[in-house]
Amino acid sequence: MNKDKEMGLLDGKKYNIITFGCQMNEHDSETIAGMLQERGCAEVPTPAESDITIINTCSIRENADKRFFGTLGQLKKIKERNPGYVACVCGCMMQQQHIIDTVKSKYPWVDIIFGTHNIHRFPELLSKVYGEKMKIAEVFEDSADIVEGLPAKRLYPHKSFVNIMYGCNNFCTYCIVPYTRGREKSRHPEDILDEIAGLAADGVKEVTLLGQNVNSYRGIDGTGRQWDFADLIYGIDDISGIQRIRFMTSHPKDLSDKLIQAYVDCDKLCNYIHLPVQSGSDDVLMRMNRKYNRTRYLELVGKLRRAVPDITISTDIIVGFPGETEKDFQDTLDLVRKVGYDSAFTFLYSIRQGTPAAGYEDQVPEDVKHERFDRLVDLINAGSAKKNAAYKGRIEKVLVDGPSKKDPKTMTGRTEGFKLVDFPGSPELTGTMVDVEITEGKTFSLKGRLAR
Ligand code: 5AD
Ligand code: SF4
Repeated sequence: MNKDKEMGLLDGKKYNIITFGCQMNEHDSETIAGMLQERGCAEVPTPAESDITIINTCSIRENADKRFFGTLGQLKKIKERNPGYVACVCGCMMQQQHIIDTVKSKYPWVDIIFGTHNIHRFPELLSKVYGEKMKIAEVFEDSADIVEGLPAKRLYPHKSFVNIMYGCNNFCTYCIVPYTRGREKSRHPEDILDEIAGLAADGVKEVTLLGQNVNSYRGIDGTGRQWDFADLIYGIDDISGIQRIRFMTSHPKDLSDKLIQAYVDCDKLCNYIHLPVQSGSDDVLMRMNRKYNRTRYLELVGKLRRAVPDITISTDIIVGFPGETEKDFQDTLDLVRKVGYDSAFTFLYSIRQGTPAAGYEDQVPEDVKHERFDRLVDLINAGSAKKNAAYKGRIEKVLVDGPSKKDPKTMTGRTEGFKLVDFPGSPELTGTMVDVEITEGKTFSLKGRLAR
């Protein structure tokens, strides 16, 4: 079906997207929104007001199934009121056959099921539902192709996500991503640079490069030359208009000296890294299949700090991986103290069907997991509060995201080190880079005032 025909069927329809999960999913939702807008659809704030609801699912987070099916249940009432209403589900969970089977059997009001590899097909599937009054479940197998040139409806005019690669080859034993997102595929460097140059021309100042493990980026250019992740950073650093480069997320095993040097050489690369450690115990890291140990991780942190003294570091940590003993957990606490993280995302280990760790017999009891989790969060929060308190009196460059949700006279933005800053200001500052004097450091954010 061509775009004009799709437009004829979709023009004027109202849509609402519910997104669960990571930045990858957020960005996929931006692409879905972009494709719908191109065909004349308009976004509305709630499913109840929409003609089309899309639930973009995530399978990495805890309780993902429960939240997803709960949300899906709520759409039934809308369908009963409005038979023309179209309910769609997509994302990582739809790459799992047992989930598709459950959706089909227990939630018959769902019209379209699609996966992570066929997002580009969504407008056509939707048109078929409208034109031919059919239900569709189309989930593609992983393939070598990357579909280029899809539009995206950006959340902010001044900053944007850019996928540089898809999938993951690492098979950490707890993780579902390699099964739902498939094997690693890198985009061609020229496609990425062109996209970012286009964003810069459009007023975007900050790009966040996305991939499950950006450090293993390997893109081939038109001359056949292979670019690694650091090469890409150098390339983006030369694009005028772009002021900040960030990336998410990186695997310690692939963090190269060349990338560390890029921090030194490239002014635009923000002095911040999210470097998931997952555990501070060598035994647990081995069973997680992480391919580094705590010594290696601490070495990397040392190297980063020597090269970039003011770098801020955040991480992901899983508590209660099967077989984790109190001694293993103490190793994690010790590593957290040694690194001195600016912030950390903490996760209670939870079973993902189909992953190796799901079959491990020595699962940690829930109460033990929770008790460890609380101790870890206390330690991390105390560390964040201390780090943030030290910012008092500093002048920080802040890219302003806009008024805070709680108070329209308060602006929020991020420092180069990715710290959230609140300060009194006017909405016209949105999208500008301003100097903010930090007046207070709290556990999760900084407070400040515009510097003169
Ligand atoms: N249980 C708990 N946390 C998990 N993560 C991934 N899989 C699981 C799981 N089965 C966490 C990891 C990863 C983050 C995005 O989610 O810490 O870095
Ligand atoms: Fe999952 Fe490990 Fe791949 Fe990250 S690197 S997406 S944790 S398998």
